Order: sequence, then C-alpha cells, then structure tokens
Amino acid sequence: MSELLRVEDLRVYFYTYAGVVKAVDGVSFTVRKGEVFSIVGETGCGKSVTARAITKLIKPPGRIVGGRVLFEGRDLLKLSEKEIRRIRGKDIAYIYQDPSSSLDPLYTSGYQIAETITVHNPGTKLKNALKKAIEILRDVAIPDPVKRARNYPHELSGGMKQRVVIGISVSNKPKLIIADEPTTSLDVTVQAQVLDLLQELRKKYGTTIMLITHNLGVVAEVSDRVMVMYAGKVVEIADVYTLFTNPLHPYTRGLLSAVPNPLEKIDEIKPIPGFVPDMINIPRGCRFRPRCSYATQRCLREPPLIEVEPGHLVSCWMYTGGDE
Ligand SMILES: Nc1ncnc2c1ncn2[C@@H]1O[C@H](COP(=O)(O)OP(=O)(O)OP(=O)(O)O)[C@@H](O)[C@H]1O
Ligand SMILES: [Mg+2]
Repeated sequence: MSELLRVEDLRVYFYTYAGVVKAVDGVSFTVRKGEVFSIVGETGCGKSVTARAITKLIKPPGRIVGGRVLFEGRDLLKLSEKEIRRIRGKDIAYIYQDPSSSLDPLYTSGYQIAETITVHNPGTKLKNALKKAIEILRDVAIPDPVKRARNYPHELSGGMKQRVVIGISVSNKPKLIIADEPTTSLDVTVQAQVLDLLQELRKKYGTTIMLITHNLGVVAEVSDRVMVMYAGKVVEIADVYTLFTNPLHPYTRGLLSAVPNPLEKIDEIKPIPGFVPDMINIPRGCRFRPRCSYATQRCLREPPLIEVEPGHLVSCWMYTGGDE
C-alpha cells in the first residue's frame, strides 16, 4: 500500500498564561492509502491537536511550531490559508464527535451537503448538487432520503445527524477522512451502524480513514494499524493484530489491561496507576517514567522511537538494545 500522509516531527504548542503546553511534541507517523489508521491514548495526550494540525486548524494561543505534514508529497504546513481551505473538505474531511456542532441549524440536511459540493466544484448548479445530495443521503443509509433532504437538523435523530455529517464529509470523495471520536455521543447500536457505514464507504470509494477513539473494542474491530500516544508523544505504532497480541510499551500494555481485551481473555483488569502529567511541567526523559513500574536511570533520557520488527515501532529503552 502506498503512502498518503506522512507527518514528520510535528510540534504544536499552546502559549497559555500558565506556561507553554507542548500538546504535540515531535510526532511522526505515516498513513497508507486505503487503510484505517487509529490513534489511541488517554484524554489530553494530543490526539485531536495532531488531527487538527494536519490541515492547520490550530487557533491561538496554539501554534504549529515545527514539523512537516506531507499529503501526497506536498507539505500542507507550507500552504497559504486559501490553498489549505481548498484541501479541507475536499481532499481531507473531518467528522467530529458531536454531529450537532457540525451542522447549521438554519439549513436543511440536503442543502448542507449540496453546499459543500458547490463550494468545492464551482460551476455546479445548486439543483444538480441537491440531486446529488439525495444520492449521498441514500449512500449513508438514511431512510426516505428525498424527504430527509428537506429536514432541518432538529428534525433528525442523533444517529441520522451523524450520517448527514458523514454525508457532507464524503460528498467530495475525500482521499482522507479524519474521524475524531465520531461515535462517542451516539448510543451503542447507532455507534456500530456508523462504523459499518464508514467501512462501507471506504470499500466503495477507497477512502483512507484516520480514526480517533477511546474505545479499544472499536479499534480492534476496524483498524489496520494503530498509533498509541502519551503526553504529546508517539509511544508505539503497530498493525492492529501485533498491537493487541504483542504490545511492547508499558503504557500500551497498561492501556490494554485497563479494559477487557477484545481479542484475548484476561481475568484481571488493572488500571494504570497515576495520572497523565501536567502538560506544562512534563517529566524529564520518558514522559511515562513516573507511572512506569520498569523505569530505571536511563529513562531520564528521552527514548527514541525505533522499529523493533518490521512495522512495529516503540519508544522505550527496554527495546533499544542499549545498556542500563
Ligand atoms: N486551546 C487550547 N489552549 C490550551 N491548551 C490546549 C488547547 N487545546 C488543547 N490544549 C491542550 O493540548 C493537549 C492535547 O489536547 P487534545 O485535545 O489533542 O487531547 P486528546 O488526546 O484529543 O484528548 P481527548 O481524548 O480528551 O479528546 C491537552 O493537554 C490540552 O489541554
Ligand atoms: Mg480529542
């Protein structure tokens, strides 16, 4: 599979009154064409900031202070606001947690899909875009799409709203969909339907999906590869099977044993002791050190992210082959 996105040494800092929050601090990864690439990690570890920085959606006091985001070989961070706007919504689309906040209460669902189409395809007549919107509503499995196209967001259920949001995001056949907790606000059955829908759209259009979720069951079910983040850093990247069967980083292991493992039966559920560090006073060296039961003197130095077997990257001194 060829590479669609390559993020290199991305750094996003927030300059707050209390100090500098290094929300994303040297994050590197690649996303291959057509895969589902998931990002997991505890709250505040920098998942959403990473996702938003890809299309420069970082507002003050935040600033992208370093790195490159190569999308089909082009560095998006170098583009002007006008150029990046053409990519956002067309080549790269976002789906957020709360569908209500992505929809405009004043316009019908059909109109909102049609508008995205006309914005990115100047010259398309609204009438034709509206027809296309109905097809898209059908694609996202909304019953009675002709009628639903005329509905305003408040006339739709939460699950239907999220389908409309997905409809908007796929309306221009994006190459990459970034879904940030797309199912969190939905009930369990609707969550499953929305995930199935994303999978179907991927099959139909070959869309690449970057999925951010807390739900490791979902990750195990839908991902090809998984990246684990901790306190603004990547701690481990592996294909989904390897990650769940042979997690290496103590944080990944903790994360997996903090919930019932979806692939293996385990009898003991141990939460990770301690808390995510204060992002202003980040621990020296390995950021997981204060919570890690394997920590030694060498962990006062920052571990590099190294490939321990093909496609399996981990950032922990235990796997570098170095001395104590
Ligand atoms: N506007 C902001 N000002 C200051 N700090 C911010 C701002 N936005 C994000 N941060 C900080 O950046 C860090 C990363 O936040 P981010 O939203 O990426 O976390 P996350 O991994 O997506 O968490 P969650 O799972 O809760 O969504 C956090 O420590 C957060 O407090
Ligand atoms: Mg988030």
